[in-house]
Amino acid sequence: MKVVKDITAVQQISEFYRCTGKKVALVPTMGFLHEGHTSLMLRAKQENDILIVSIFVNPTQFGKGEDFDKYPRDIVRDFHICEKSGADYIFNPEAEEMYGKDHFTKVTLSNVTEKLEGDFRPGHFDGVATVVTKLLNIAKPHRIYLGQKDAQQNAVLKRMISDLNIDTELIICETIREENGLARSSRNTFLTSEQKDKASVLFHVLKEGEKMITREKITDTEIIYEKVKNIIKEKSPDFQLQYYKITDNNSLEEIRDLNGYTGEILISLACKVGSTRLIDNIIFTK
Ligand code: PAJ
Repeated sequence: MKVVKDITAVQQISEFYRCTGKKVALVPTMGFLHEGHTSLMLRAKQENDILIVSIFVNPTQFGKGEDFDKYPRDIVRDFHICEKSGADYIFNPEAEEMYGKDHFTKVTLSNVTEKLEGDFRPGHFDGVATVVTKLLNIAKPHRIYLGQKDAQQNAVLKRMISDLNIDTELIICETIREENGLARSSRNTFLTSEQKDKASVLFHVLKEGEKMITREKITDTEIIYEKVKNIIKEKSPDFQLQYYKITDNNSLEEIRDLNGYTGEILISLACKVGSTRLIDNIIFTK
């Protein structure tokens, strides 16, 4: 496994493999890797010849007052994890290499970026879309592997790849969870063990929503929202639920009446646990 910090070098490496008929995969990450990330790497390596993992804490996707400075980092540990998971190359650039002194271009999407997270993290998805466009132009992968954990990010990137005719296939892998249901996240490191235990309520309310829709055949989403708010109030009164929304998985449009709805349903939430903000979601059909 090689660690590369230089953009041109990665472009040349990828070009070389593409010319020799090899399939190149990219797993983009911000590091502090966990089993969610390694599941993407293992699948990507299994389905392709060459695996490039990018590790870059992208400053442009963090808003003012968010946790960019505090974001957990342990690059040496990450290198070991990547090596064990079959990475061939790690792209680990400095911010200066990615953005230079001036950077005038931004990739902005409307609509899908404005919902859910959009209310709480304005500008976040512009940062994500911009850095992922750059990573796609740098690693030139045939396929990019992303986790279901970030459902809106996936919807945004799917749309961007389609709108801009980017020649990369997007593959979404299931969310990896702790035993108690808590979705693995680099930010879980900020939680105390008591908070981690209590955070199992988040997956619980997602499954509860699914159960009310698929088994109890409830069609009025207000009834579900009420029940979920009460469960969280009762089990973890100190948690601050920012949103819990039932939407169409592609458009992210809220579904108010599930009667007659046949598409893929996304239930997603964001919740502050102490000063840590967690997101999670599930997708299913009726
Ligand atoms: P990061 O949070 O490091 O996540 C990198 C990838 O790992 C994303 O596709 C994310 O959905 C996936 N992932 C995280 N936790 C997961 C879990 N528990 N199970 C399965 N997959 C999981 O997402 C980002 O970085 C950045 O926004 C990035 C795309 C790299 C752009 O900067």
